[in-house]
Amino acid sequence: MSAPAGTETTHRARTGRAVRMTGSGEPEQHIETHATDRPTAGRGKVVVEVEAAGVSYAEVQMLQHLHPFPPRFPFVPGYDLVGRIVEVGAGVTGFANGDRVAAMPRYGGWQTHAEIPAACLAHLPEDLDAAEAVALVTNGVTAWQMLHRLTDAAPGDTVLVHGASGGVGSVLTRIAVHHGLRVIGTASPAKHDAVRDMGAEPLDYRTPDLPAAVRQFAPDGVSAVFDHIGGKGLDDSWKILAPGGTLVSFDSSVAGYRPGQWFRPHLPALRRSLTRALARLLGRTGGRRMRMYYVKPGKNFAADLATMYDLLGQGVLRPEIAGRLPLDDAARALRELLDGRAVGKYVLIP
Ligand SMILES: NC(=O)c1ccc[n+]([C@@H]2O[C@H](COP(=O)([O-])OP(=O)(O)OC[C@H]3O[C@@H](n4cnc5c(N)ncnc54)[C@H](OP(=O)(O)O)[C@@H]3O)[C@@H](O)[C@H]2O)c1
Repeated sequence: MSAPAGTETTHRARTGRAVRMTGSGEPEQHIETHATDRPTAGRGKVVVEVEAAGVSYAEVQMLQHLHPFPPRFPFVPGYDLVGRIVEVGAGVTGFANGDRVAAMPRYGGWQTHAEIPAACLAHLPEDLDAAEAVALVTNGVTAWQMLHRLTDAAPGDTVLVHGASGGVGSVLTRIAVHHGLRVIGTASPAKHDAVRDMGAEPLDYRTPDLPAAVRQFAPDGVSAVFDHIGGKGLDDSWKILAPGGTLVSFDSSVAGYRPGQWFRPHLPALRRSLTRALARLLGRTGGRRMRMYYVKPGKNFAADLATMYDLLGQGVLRPEIAGRLPLDDAARALRELLDGRAVGKYVLIP
């Protein structure tokens, strides 16, 4: 039910805690926790008491000033969160005090109370575990939309998921297997057992001739490749596609860029995407196409997240939780991601 504008506010200041990213560099130097007052809800916004907030590679990129949309330092990181609305600002419809919600504000999640634009919210069923629910907000919607909104991969087809042990990759692998797809999942060798447990066939992403290795599994190529590597890696991903297949480029995170080159990593993907769109128009790609993806809030976000929550509630989907940590351990979680030790999603519990 909608809250009448401004009628459900409770202006009770409360001391909370927030994590702050203070600059570009190492997590141990630039991540700190501090006390805050509870915010009040501005127009079109709500205040959420945070139950769980996700740690994602986006925060690693923000720390290295490699994110395409970097906020100014210092700021409170936290791409996504789940929690309960404790205050509703004027002009908000569709959400009321006490509602349990999921949100993707892109930053601001790593604190006890967050002021969130209502446009970033979706409803969250009461019975779901907060950590599992937050692991599906950005990662789940990203995985779902890339697979089901950008490709035509049908049951029985084979797809290649890069980074299958990661936050996005592990959810993508599970929903692809659930969809009846055969999944080849790249990961470092130490994580191959984890990838196998998800129902995929593991492959080391450092294999020298990756297209040849993939063709041993799928001689005719694969129906879709999900690529967060970027750079020249996109050419290998393109070579692996079967006629009519789709290459989804969803980041350029592993191509060896230096901290501070925030937009540069994305240029090779943009260039290739334009060139291939033109070649496709001219009928020169055998029906193959390349699509770039960036998750955003809105109607499809809320609808697709609801689908993910149905699957979670039915027990079809179990996101991998790398660890549940207090806010004070945010730097440790980032370090685990930076050093490639995480399997699945680290979650902060304020
Ligand atoms: N476009 C969007 O809307 C969107 C949304 C969400 C996330 N993303 C992006 O998606 C990427 C993954 O995010 P995440 O949160 O899942 O990160 P994550 O949990 O840290 O996972 C990263 C994964 O990348 C793998 N990896 C490392 N080096 C690699 C290489 N050279 N080739 C292939 N894979 C490699 C890692 O495997 P090992 O651990 O086995 O080394 C790990 O599985 C990030 O770049 C993030 O920014 C984009």
